[in-house]
Amino acid sequence: MKKVLAILLAMAMLFGMAACSSGGSTEPAADSSSVIDEIKANGKLTVGTSADYPPYEFHTEIDGKDTIVGFDMAIAQAIADDLGVDLEIVDMSFDNLLMSLANGEFDMVIAGITSNEERKKAVDFSDPYLVSKSLILVTSENADKYKTLDDLKGAKGGAQTGTITYDRCVLYCGEESTVGLSKVQDLIMELQAGKLDLLFLDYMTVLTYAAVKDDLEAVDVNIPSDEEGYQIAVQKGNTELVEYINGVLAKLLAENAIEGYIVEAQQQAGLDE
Ligand code: ARG
Repeated sequence: MKKVLAILLAMAMLFGMAACSSGGSTEPAADSSSVIDEIKANGKLTVGTSADYPPYEFHTEIDGKDTIVGFDMAIAQAIADDLGVDLEIVDMSFDNLLMSLANGEFDMVIAGITSNEERKKAVDFSDPYLVSKSLILVTSENADKYKTLDDLKGAKGGAQTGTITYDRCVLYCGEESTVGLSKVQDLIMELQAGKLDLLFLDYMTVLTYAAVKDDLEAVDVNIPSDEEGYQIAVQKGNTELVEYINGVLAKLLAENAIEGYIVEAQQQAGLDE
């Protein structure tokens, strides 16, 4: 219970900031455009994600059926609903997502992703929908071991390959001490087995695992970040879709809808007590 409250609190704080910074969002274009028309004609919005990141996107069983859920997926569903089309989710490893988007395999990527200069060369990004932040995840017995960034030097750190959090792990733990794996669940297993000292992940994923797994704890060592917040990626030059997405995001933020999606995703991730 205590842990769940902590998550909701962290979320509410950060959420307020995101809502303020999104003031300049554009409304959906009133005139219809070819890209939007094409999506409507196809009857579906195809979205790429890496469903290994609760509560952003993850697998769960609903009515005995494996289903991809999470608050990113709820946002994607809201965009599809706004377009009046079905949502089709394509699940793949995080490090292939942006390349596959650039190759035209889907309309957009939503995956707890943030922009940086390198990514901006390959794809375009929407306005941010939530503030981003990294925390570290450790086993309970190591909960008091890491207090400052300096304490991370030489610690065996794990992170997901192709992520900004991986680059941070290299920066603070050191190149030789960093282990990159493509699936977050494999990183969790290595941490629990004592093969890694700590994991670098996004804050809500860290808080979720710390709340759900008795043997894991979240630690905030004030990892510096220059990220703008979580954003949706589209193919380079697809301004029509990005403007449409920004319009829906502005509406969802104004209605505090994303907050509700987060609560629902946390419940689906096992934080419902
Ligand atoms: N926020 C980090 C990044 O943009 C990690 C995102 C990982 N997402 C995921 N669905 N596994 O690089």
